[in-house]
Amino acid sequence: MTTYKTTPYEGQKPGTSGLRKKVRVFQQPGYAENFIQAVFDVVEPAPGAVLVIGGDGRYHNRTVIQQAIRMAAANGYGQVLVGQGGILSTPAASNVIRQYKASGGLILSASHNPGGPDEDFGIKYNIANGGPAPESVTDAIYARTQTIDRYLALDTPDIDLDTLGTVEVGACRVTVLDPVADYADLMERLFDFATIRAAVAGGLTMAFDAMHAVTGPYATEILEKRLGFAPGTVRNGVPLEDFGGHHPDPNMVHAKELFDLMFSEAAPDFGAASDGDGDRNLIVGKHRFVTPSDSLAMLAANAHLAPGYAKGLAGIARSMPTSAAADRVAASLGIPAFETPTGWKFFGNLLDAGMATICGEESAGTGSDHVREKDGLWAVLLWLNILAVRKISVDALARKHWAKFGRNYYARHDYEALPTEQADALMAALKASLGALPGRKVGPLRVETADSFSYLDPVDGSTSANQGLRVLFEGGSRIVFRLSGTGTQGATLRVYLERYEPVGGDLDRETPEMLADLIAAADELAGITRHTGRTAPDVVT
Ligand code: G6P
Ligand code: ZN
Repeated sequence: MTTYKTTPYEGQKPGTSGLRKKVRVFQQPGYAENFIQAVFDVVEPAPGAVLVIGGDGRYHNRTVIQQAIRMAAANGYGQVLVGQGGILSTPAASNVIRQYKASGGLILSASHNPGGPDEDFGIKYNIANGGPAPESVTDAIYARTQTIDRYLALDTPDIDLDTLGTVEVGACRVTVLDPVADYADLMERLFDFATIRAAVAGGLTMAFDAMHAVTGPYATEILEKRLGFAPGTVRNGVPLEDFGGHHPDPNMVHAKELFDLMFSEAAPDFGAASDGDGDRNLIVGKHRFVTPSDSLAMLAANAHLAPGYAKGLAGIARSMPTSAAADRVAASLGIPAFETPTGWKFFGNLLDAGMATICGEESAGTGSDHVREKDGLWAVLLWLNILAVRKISVDALARKHWAKFGRNYYARHDYEALPTEQADALMAALKASLGALPGRKVGPLRVETADSFSYLDPVDGSTSANQGLRVLFEGGSRIVFRLSGTGTQGATLRVYLERYEPVGGDLDRETPEMLADLIAAADELAGITRHTGRTAPDVVT
């Protein structure tokens, strides 16, 4: 074992979802090692503990995996489980941690951010429940990165990541496992594959865009092999280190090809996509886009149709900027609804405590207590299960849902790569103005309340403050302003717009039209153009 001297790097603070930086930053000598050693120093693995390592296959994945294996062995781990080819989707990694009772895992991904030598990389630590480390742990890791002066590693050659089996690295057993099998089996236990297969045999068609990212092998095994969808159903199914030069973010902008297909005459019944590391999902029916917030609500309302959820849900949790559509479902089911800060890690305690069964976020994440990450293919399969049992189209299901619960028109406007000072100034000025907003008229809208969202975790009693600025209007409309915690360049301002139309109201209109007053109000309240010079968002999702 060698003890390598090192000095701290600045800025190794994990964001919404781990440490994310440009590949070039990670390539600096000792950069990844410092962070990984800080993780090990904080979590202090028991001798012989099991560690899971896997990533989304992006550029630099294999290099960091080899570094991490040598360091895990030197830090006393007894076994490392690593996905073949260095591949594990984020939900599959969560499952492996739980299934093999690992003490935790390192997930190497920058999620939906582009990959390649000039693009992004990331490292995230997940704890024994399979979920992202809570803030107490990530804060301690960050603190440790600021004083770190050595890291431990064995001086051993790279292992063969492509061959299944177990090898020894020092006293540590390193097992290369099939990244897909356990996950696919789990899906088969949760969902009614026989009924979905029958629907496929009866003519149900779909298109799944894996975006050259990690879900390709998972989707091919599950959708084409186990469920019988036609070969070619999975598009862009081979993971590439640079995702084919695309942004592996399943939204209307970056999954445009799928979108165009789903709104064309040639559209199959069902369309879906997932992101770089397989935890996000996009759901688009034939000629019908389903917002992530609506998807959460619709899945929750129908989940009992899948075997894994037949006994009903304990509760539904959503992040604060996610629309309140799911709250209405919870109310009608007579179960609690939870509102957490952005970031999947905030669902962990609720899931562990059995208080929530299904969770979701506006950022295209949906999942349940089957793992402790959001899960793109899980959402796709639950949708398929529901459509197959109800023998209904996505569009018809959506319309019936809105007719029963009302509709939360929703959009998110992103202003990307803003100078940090501008974004901070905008947020500071808006925050300072919140107290005077109630009662104020903004166009045709009247402010009811306004606050800075703070979350009190009902399980561990911890508080997370400053989680976004909310302006709520009379009638249930709302604007939320937040700075992204996942960017790697400057600041990204997210403006979340939501308008509620009750049962019997205008349920079949175009979203931009329905949100026009809110869009104008957002600029009036926050001075977006005044602070940033921007007159339109970069991305609307
Ligand atoms: C990641 C997290 C999500 C979060 C999303 C958006 O995907 O896992 O929980 O909702 O990032 O975060 P951001 O801070 O960029 O809005
Ligand atoms: Zn992701």
